[in-house]
Amino acid sequence: MSEAPRKILVTSALPYANGPIHLGHLLEYIQTDIWVRFQKLRGEQCLYVCADDAHGTAIMLKAEEKGITPEQQIEQVKAEHERDFAAFQIRFDNYYSTHSPENKALSEMIFQRNKDAGYILEKTITQLYDPEKGMFLADRFVRGTCPKCKTADQYGDNCEACGATYSPSELIDPYSAVSGATPVEKETTQLFFDLPKFEPLLREWTRSGSLQEGVANKLQEWMEDLQPWDISREAPYFGFEIPGYPGKYFYVWMDAPVGYMASFQNLCEREGINFDDYWKADSDAELYHFIGKDIINFHGLFWPAMLDGAGLRKPTAIFSHGFVTVNGAKMSKSRGTFIMARTYLDHLDPEYLRYYFAAKLNSRVDDFDLNLEDFAQRVNTDLVGKVVNIASRTGNFVKKFGGRLGDDLDNPLLAREAQEAAGRIAAFYEQREFSKAMREIMSLADHANGYIADKAPWSLAKEDGKEQEVLAICTTALNVFRLLVLYLKPVLPGLAERAEAFLDIPPLTWADAGTLLLDHPINKFKPLLSRVDMAHIEAMLADSRDTNPAASAGEAAAQDTPEEEDDTITIDDFLKVKLRAARIAKAAPVEGADKLLQLTLDVGELGERNVFAGIKSKYRPEDLEGRMVVLVANLAPRKMKFGVSEGMVLAAGPGGDDIFLLSPDDGAEPGMEVR
Ligand code: MSP
Ligand code: ZN
Repeated sequence: MSEAPRKILVTSALPYANGPIHLGHLLEYIQTDIWVRFQKLRGEQCLYVCADDAHGTAIMLKAEEKGITPEQQIEQVKAEHERDFAAFQIRFDNYYSTHSPENKALSEMIFQRNKDAGYILEKTITQLYDPEKGMFLADRFVRGTCPKCKTADQYGDNCEACGATYSPSELIDPYSAVSGATPVEKETTQLFFDLPKFEPLLREWTRSGSLQEGVANKLQEWMEDLQPWDISREAPYFGFEIPGYPGKYFYVWMDAPVGYMASFQNLCEREGINFDDYWKADSDAELYHFIGKDIINFHGLFWPAMLDGAGLRKPTAIFSHGFVTVNGAKMSKSRGTFIMARTYLDHLDPEYLRYYFAAKLNSRVDDFDLNLEDFAQRVNTDLVGKVVNIASRTGNFVKKFGGRLGDDLDNPLLAREAQEAAGRIAAFYEQREFSKAMREIMSLADHANGYIADKAPWSLAKEDGKEQEVLAICTTALNVFRLLVLYLKPVLPGLAERAEAFLDIPPLTWADAGTLLLDHPINKFKPLLSRVDMAHIEAMLADSRDTNPAASAGEAAAQDTPEEEDDTITIDDFLKVKLRAARIAKAAPVEGADKLLQLTLDVGELGERNVFAGIKSKYRPEDLEGRMVVLVANLAPRKMKFGVSEGMVLAAGPGGDDIFLLSPDDGAEPGMEVR
């Protein structure tokens, strides 16, 4: 490459140091890693930094709950995060912590410069205070009803139902998520970043054309109502104390993005890179932040404004992705789809997930559905069935006929086609249209497989004097294979490494698409990737259910993450429930049980069912006989102390006469379907 390499600094959002990495997080880190590996393969000077986001109330409370110091907490979690990221082949140039001397110094510098420029305001406000816990309640630790749309149980800073942002004191019926107490209002003086002053700058930045449409629209919307941003928090708080304001701390979201710079500075010190080159106002380096859609405001409004206020450069662009759903629904602990990185690794190869993410990712902010059956099928069909298959069907013949690729191709056009795709595939990677890149690669693989099937080297190999022809066919196929492995290398670095060992070549770089591998010794073919087994997926789901007991509800409340237990079910889930009308033929008390009644149900064509129902305190058995109820008819039978229960009866209401969902007057027939 004759041109000077681009200087590119890339970040992923800093994961909170209060919990483990899960598959939702991994979408972001894998997306970023693929993009970075691609840039590096191309010979660009691309650096990827990240860190743990170590500050804030959530981490402080988490440590308290475990009986350790916040420092111990963040150290433990950082080690776990690094281990998980490494296992998924996410290769940072530096992984650091926001609780670092570099971050302290940089945060203070950015604050001081903004203050000197008149962008920091002091305001006395009333804030909600937890009288039981003796602390001011930061944003997410107050919950209550959204002042805009009136949805109950929303966070203190924004509503998940309507997306409104507000201050915690605007919530209706607020309560403390820490203690449950009703917060009281208390006056404090806080520091605000004067965001409205940056409106012209932000408008210009938003219109610069380098932002995704979804992101630009969101920013435009917020631009209508910019408010000063509260960047200070009261003790007790785990973070950096604000110089000149004893007892006040930088809000975690003030020093977190600065953590990008701090991690980079730490790298610069180690490797002798010029830090200012990347951050000065007129820097010619590119700066990209990969983030989830939930944190666009922090990166698209506050961060560029604060940088500008401090006389520093703004990001070149922010790249936002949507949220991971599993099998069409929000990740859920009860369904076992809230899958931790660690649990995945216990059962499945990380490269499967890297490929599946790549195969479905585009440059938009859409949510991402991880459909586990589709996942297994995609990996098996594409990687095992198409790509690896090329080598497994041809590698051994080369070994058999001398162990060297020939110096002739049987089909130069096929190899040429694969070489010429390099430019298109590179453009797709660059634009983060990974799914298009994968489609292009798989179509090349289809051509190669069609060609191999056509030539059937396994038949030719049995004939006399066909050795050279077989070799030329296999040399063609393996050259296409080498190119496909190169194109997949940003996604599948492990597979690439194994393929490089098989082909006995040094690590491939993008420029190698311009050459072919001829008259070259290769090694014995060994299986490069095994098939995904559905049984392993099932086992992973079962494990995810086990390791997340619902008992940790208190723990969930103390987490600062947007993912919470969600028990919404899809219509498909609901349709699995077989609801039938049933007539109570007989109701009898159960000897030795205080709460149970034994019901004999007439379910029409489904016959008779025996059900134990815990409704004795509300009904006299004789009042129940002859009444209609709704039965969950396909519930697995459950063995109880008193016998087997074959279903569940649905009822609602205070009891007595008011409870039945159906009565004989409704014209219900036993066995009739109920929806
Ligand atoms: N600590 C902040 C980021 C500070 S950046 C200066 C944070 N941490 S987080 O751990 O909650 O999330 C880290 C990243 O993972 C965010 O970009 C977030 O959007 C992303 N994801 C977390 N859960 C996700 C899914 N379920 N799906 C996709 N991405 C998700 O936010
Ligand atoms: Zn709302």
